[in-house]
Amino acid sequence: MPSSEISPDRMPRHVAIIMDGNGRWAEARGLQRNRGHLAGVESVKQIVRSVRELGMEYLTLYAFSSENWNRPDAEVSELMRLLEIYLDENIAEAQERGVRLRVMGHMDRLPQSTRAAVDRAVEATLENPNGDLIFALSYGGRGEIVDAVRDIIREVEAGRLDPEMLDEKTFAAHLYLPDVPDPDLLIRTGDECRVSNFLLWQIAYAEIHTTSVMWPDFRREHLEAAICDYQARERRFGMTSAQVEKGDETDDGGRAEPQ
Ligand code: IPE
Ligand code: IPE
Ligand code: MG
Repeated sequence: MPSSEISPDRMPRHVAIIMDGNGRWAEARGLQRNRGHLAGVESVKQIVRSVRELGMEYLTLYAFSSENWNRPDAEVSELMRLLEIYLDENIAEAQERGVRLRVMGHMDRLPQSTRAAVDRAVEATLENPNGDLIFALSYGGRGEIVDAVRDIIREVEAGRLDPEMLDEKTFAAHLYLPDVPDPDLLIRTGDECRVSNFLLWQIAYAEIHTTSVMWPDFRREHLEAAICDYQARERRFGMTSAQVEKGDETDDGGRAEPQ
């Protein structure tokens, strides 16, 4: 059940989170950065549960960016190891709750054992109907757009697509998970205010909530605060406030078609 301040009929359908601050959380305690990543896994577990309990359909977690490959080898290996353990340990809970685990990013760059853990989790939960838990892994928003462009060029070359017919909807159909609606709410923890190459196309109209809470400390109460913040915003999609109040919605549930 949502807390009393949250309005259950205005929940974001899709929440995306940039889980930042693990390293600083650890360093502030005189610990190795990897201890922060370990503590961050507990936050993932708690937040995944809270998102389901609050009734949101899609949760996308930025777990590892394409730029994160540039971190020291030992840190990258630890992140991969934690991910494998998380996935293997949480398949059962995902099954129990009917949650589908999905991934977006360049899985081909992952170590073989991590890729195998991803495959196991994705396959085991494929048919689950109660919402998607999506991990952005080895993911970059620019890379995703470039991959979409490559796909589109192939379609054009094969004579299946007329370049004149290319519009935003057709373009978006070539992104990694075209069936997933754009995030309504983007949360970044860890006291930074940037998007760090996350879902660049999809966050065009996301409401952004940043917090100084480091990811290992992020709990349901912080998620609820982000949702309250979201619900206090007026999403205008380019229209005027008067139009929004009058309910001049566009066909696609309020997302104004760019002209
Ligand atoms: C987020 O925490 C985890 C990943 C990027 C994988 P960081 O490791 O970026 O933590 P800070 O930003 O250095 O504190
Ligand atoms: C963003 O965090 C990536 C993830 C949370 C996986 P970073 O810590 O890598 O972002 P920057 O480098 O500070 O922008
Ligand atoms: Mg960081």
